[in-house]
Formats: sequence, structure tokens, C-alpha cells
Amino acid sequence: MMSAMHTPTLYRQWADHYAQAIHSGALPPGERMPSLRDLMARHAVSLSTAVQLCRTLEREGLLEARPRAGYFVRPRRPLASLQEPQPSAPDVAQYVGIHQRVSEVLALSQRYPAKVNLSGSCGAPSLYPGAALRLATQRALRAQPDIFSQPLAMAGCAPFLQALAQHALDAQMTLSPDELVVTHGCTEALTLALRAVAQPGEVIAVESPTYYGLLQILESLGLQALEIPASPHTGLSLEALEMAARQCPGLKAVAVTPNLHNPLGCVMPDAHKRQLLRWCQRHDIALIEDNTYTPLYDAGPPLAAIKAWDDSGQVIVCSSLHKILAPGLRLGWIAGGKWHERIAMLKYSQSRPNELLPQLAMTDYLSSGALPRHLSTLKRTLRHQREQMADAVDRLFPAGCRFSLPPGGMSIWVELPGELSSLAVFHAALQQGIRISPGVMFSNAGRVDHCLRLNAGLPYTREVDRAMHTLAQVIEHTLNQAPAGRGKATHA
Ligand SMILES: Cc1ncc(COP(=O)(O)O)c(C=O)c1O
Repeated sequence: MMSAMHTPTLYRQWADHYAQAIHSGALPPGERMPSLRDLMARHAVSLSTAVQLCRTLEREGLLEARPRAGYFVRPRRPLASLQEPQPSAPDVAQYVGIHQRVSEVLALSQRYPAKVNLSGSCGAPSLYPGAALRLATQRALRAQPDIFSQPLAMAGCAPFLQALAQHALDAQMTLSPDELVVTHGCTEALTLALRAVAQPGEVIAVESPTYYGLLQILESLGLQALEIPASPHTGLSLEALEMAARQCPGLKAVAVTPNLHNPLGCVMPDAHKRQLLRWCQRHDIALIEDNTYTPLYDAGPPLAAIKAWDDSGQVIVCSSLHKILAPGLRLGWIAGGKWHERIAMLKYSQSRPNELLPQLAMTDYLSSGALPRHLSTLKRTLRHQREQMADAVDRLFPAGCRFSLPPGGMSIWVELPGELSSLAVFHAALQQGIRISPGVMFSNAGRVDHCLRLNAGLPYTREVDRAMHTLAQVIEHTLNQAPAGRGKATHA
């Protein structure tokens, strides 16, 4: 017989069992829970244990009690979708300060080790084919034992360029291997693209919000960023871009992530992609396209890159294998369009060619035909994790929070109610051992200070679920502090 001392363990154990069933979808929203009598019979527990089990799950937002009908899995509230950006007069913002702000957030993140890190934008290591990549590396070394004493080819190793050109076909880009240069990740590709088309002091249009790494690169190159509002549903606002360009005639480039934007997760419709390309061609403005996440789209047939429609070399494509295949390798690539020659020389002067071993290992892996299988498993897993995290946001976060479930990738972008400061939430969450990415990192215009990005790349474990409960409490608490002036969004 159970002693009273063990009863809490027992109800918690069964509560965890049913929580797991709800998260996995085995017990879907709206489903009736077994009655108290059934729970007692099924699990040989007392009435008080069965009651505690249900009340615990009710408190945790997983069940709801209906008078005289029993407990039901809590139906999902219709998702409050992210709001369209407010029309605002575009303003050339010199990015003095963003680098420092981003650096402060990153430095704090390093100083306070997080138990649960929801701040990144990458899958957990277990989602990548570590064993297959290790074997591919061993085969590459065996095939070329003198690999470290050979000189390197300038643009990259020919078979790897060939494999990349084939991979690009998935996004409907027809590229010759000669048009590509291998880079140290997409970060180097973006840096080269910007250096090729603009001089310090010149202006580049970017989506607002945008990937903070792009803002750091712009600032480090002494370029000015023109923040163009982006819709959380369709990406860059083309009307706002036109307005901004009229006010800023010297615009040198537009840098966009049209597919699975970071942090919004949205996809630009094909009609907008074509329109943007035509506009850039007409004004002879470089179009820098970041295709990092394109292969992670899972809501339909593969997405096309803007480059797919480019017949004049106006588009510079930047991409990487970091998010889709090997987060531990700095392997990216660039197709420079009409700036190809200049980009190849800039790459040579900036960092010399990439090492051969990773390129050969990746060539081995890509030519084995394993990538499509890996991608389909990765996308399925990420979708499941996104849904679980979205479900937790929906269930646990205070009323007034908004978000949209992206059609791929790993980012979940949440708008907090009112003017709540995501930086205040970031600090408070860090005290609790949880790391998030505050909105202030993704814009210098103060437009998204009340938003935050969560990473659904981690398996949705109990630990992550507990972290989501804590984060919800932190937001609630920060909200309650807000009227006194603390926690209000501010813009440095
Ligand atoms: C949109 C976007 N572009 C580029 C990068 C950087 O890519 P890499 O790690 O290959 O340099 C990231 C990383 O988060 C990203 O989200």
C-alpha cells in the first residue's frame, strides 16, 4: 500500500504521463479525459490521487473542468495572429549602437549559463546526421591522405561547387558551378555581397525586423541601414520600400530573407518576389537574397528563390549548410550574379579559400543522395517541435500575446502585449536560467522592442515545458510591473 508520503510522487508521475500524451497529440484538444473512476481503476490509484492528477493538469493549463461532464483536454484558443506593421515614415538609421546592444545581450547570455537556451536559431545536435558526416569525413581523408599539404582552389573545390549547384536546383535556381564561391558560412557571404556593392556610408534597405547578424555586419562595414517594415505574413513591404527609396535616392542594395524570414518565419509570396526583382532591375539596385532557411519549408512544394527569376545577374544569393545539415561547420556559399568576379577577389583578399576537408566531406555526403531523406526527417521533427512550442505559448502566455505558426524552420516570434519590454523579460528570464532572444536585437528603430524570438529547434522535453511555464510567469510578472514604469518598452 502507498504511504501518504509517496502520494505526491504518484499523482505527479501520472500527471506527467497524461501531459506527455497531450503534447504528443495522443490526447488531442477537446478530448475527454478518463473519468476519476476510470483513472482509479486503470492506474490503481486512490480517488485523491486521481483528483490531484486532474487538478494539476488543469492548473498547468492542459485540462479544463466542465460542470457535470468531467475533465477535457483544453481546446486551443484560435491563435491571435501577429499584427501587420504600422505604416511609418522610413528613416535612415545609422546603425551606431545596434552592434553594442547585440553584443551586450550576447555577453550577458555567456555570463549567465542558461539551463534552457531558447535563444538560438538552430536545431538540437541530435537533429543532424552526425554519424553519416563523420563517416563522410573519414572517407574523404582516406581518399586524399595528403589533404593538408595541398594548395587550395580559389573559389572552392570543384566537386563541392558542383554539388552545391545541384542542391540549388531545389529552390529553382539554375546556377553553374563557376558562378559560385564557397564561404565561411552565410555570414561571410553576406559580408562579401555588401562589400561588393557598397562603400562605407552608403545605404542598404533591410527588412524590419531582420536577422541581427546582418545588422552587425552593416555596422561593422560602416554602412547605413534603412529599415523597411516587414509584414509577419508576407515579408518586406514593397510599398514602404518604394516610399523609402524616393526619400533616399542613393540606395545601393536591398537585403532580404524572402523564405522563412528570421525572426518572423514568414514567406514572401512569389508575386512579391518577382515584383521586388523587377523593381531592383529597373533601379539598378543590388538584391541580396539570404536563402539560409529555404530548404526547411514544409507547408507545400519547395519554395523558389528570387534568384530563380533573375535573368540579369541582379540577385546575389547567400546561403549556408549551417541550419540544414552541419551546425558545427562554417560552410556557406555565394552566387554573386554580375558582381561575381569582384566577390571572388574580395573573398580571396578577405579570408583566402575555405579548407578542403569539410568541402570534400560534404561532397561525399551530398552525392550519396542522403540529403533529401535527412531534410524530410528534419522538417517533420521541427514541425512537431514548433507545434508543441506554439501550443505552450497559446496555453500559457498571458492574454494579449500574439504569434503565428511559421510554415517551416525553428523560430517562433511572439508579440507581447502593449509596450512591454522584451529586454526586461530577457533579464528576468535569465535570472531563472532561461535564455530568449529579445526583440531589441532585431531592429534599431524601436519597432519590435516588445517582441521576442523563441527557438523551437530543441526537442520539447519536460524541462523545456517547465521553462515555458516559468517564462509565462516572468512575462506576467513583468506585465504587472509595467504600470509603475518598469518593464515598459524603451528604445535606446
Ligand atoms: C537569416 C540568417 N542568415 C544568416 C545566418 C548566419 O548563417 P551562418 O551561420 O551560415 O553564417 C543566420 C543565422 O542565424 C540567419 O538566421
